[in-house]
Amino acid sequence: MAAPALITPSTSLACDRTVVLVGMMGAGKTAVGRRLAKVLGWPFKDADAAIEAAAGTSIANIFAEIGESAFRVKERQVVARLLSGERMVLALGGGAFIDPQTRALVRERALSIWLRADLEVLARRTGRPGKRPLLAQGDPRTVLADLLAQRTPIYAQADVIIDSGKGPVGAVVADVLAALAAEQVGAAR
Ligand code: S3P
Repeated sequence: MAAPALITPSTSLACDRTVVLVGMMGAGKTAVGRRLAKVLGWPFKDADAAIEAAAGTSIANIFAEIGESAFRVKERQVVARLLSGERMVLALGGGAFIDPQTRALVRERALSIWLRADLEVLARRTGRPGKRPLLAQGDPRTVLADLLAQRTPIYAQADVIIDSGKGPVGAVVADVLAALAAEQVGAAR
């Protein structure tokens, strides 16, 4: 069997913390996270999927039934649970790192990576209607632009920033691996 394309020396990272992917809806957190976890041989979890499993219903239904601020409480609880378990690659929903308590927890227990993408990329990738309740609250592109402007300074507090969106998922994963290897070198100094 052919070797996986993305195995590099950095796959033997001595990182003992969960790697958390943050960023806007459509930034590629789930796709990149899945691939990254596979290369590292670590488990992958998607916080939105974990919230849906815990609630027994979809994110859209949770927003409709209890509203955004109660959703953020559930999100915080689920992220806290995931961050107290085994080391993994964890993709967060776009607003999770914006919540001060969730952000503090991530900063304390994990290595955070902001997958940065511009509005064009985000708008193209979030075109599928229905899945993202915040985008149904107005013109989706305007909502995205407003959220991106508000959230950018907060995402910028992540430990590592990686541009996502111009190239294929594999290229973003390679950039993440290189950044993790550099972090490791930095930590050893
Ligand atoms: C949200 C992003 C969504 C989901 C919820 C709220 C946000 O996750 O958590 O709809 O506030 O940006 P994705 O970023 O995975 O789409």
